[in-house]
Amino acid sequence: MNTNSSIYDCCIIELNKIHNRSGNITIVENKVNIPFDVKRLYYLYDVPGGAQRGGHAHQELHQMIVAASGCFDVVLDDGKNKKVVELNRPYYGLYIVPGIWREIINFSSGAICLVLASHKYDKNDYIREYNRFLNFKNENISQI
Ligand code: TYD
Repeated sequence: MNTNSSIYDCCIIELNKIHNRSGNITIVENKVNIPFDVKRLYYLYDVPGGAQRGGHAHQELHQMIVAASGCFDVVLDDGKNKKVVELNRPYYGLYIVPGIWREIINFSSGAICLVLASHKYDKNDYIREYNRFLNFKNENISQI
């Protein structure tokens, strides 16, 4: 895991939007407007009011999260600092580097959380206990 990563390495990527009177289109293309090659795409939907998703960190996985419909908040945490990013437009992608704890909260009704991911699903890439996450981050600090 990139234990040095910080929430300041995560950023909003403004995607292009092609306007059309009969609807807009946004394109995400490897090596064009996303900082990693996409190997997997999944989406969360029918999230009940008040539910929270995420609640984990990844060791190697890069992700870009898009509110394809509706809105929600992504809470990013690197063990030292936290920030909340509201996603509410389908042409904004939140790039999340490895080694960041994330929670996704405040889903609006009908929200669709689209996730583009750099690797295939690997359950061993997840860190699901917050204390274990902090240990990973702190191990690295003690090596500096
Ligand atoms: P999880 O990543 O924990 O969801 P979230 O972060 O949105 O709360 O995944 C939920 C379940 O779905 C878990 O049992 C693992 C499974 N899953 C897959 O089998 N493949 C996948 O690509 C993903 C993302 C999840």
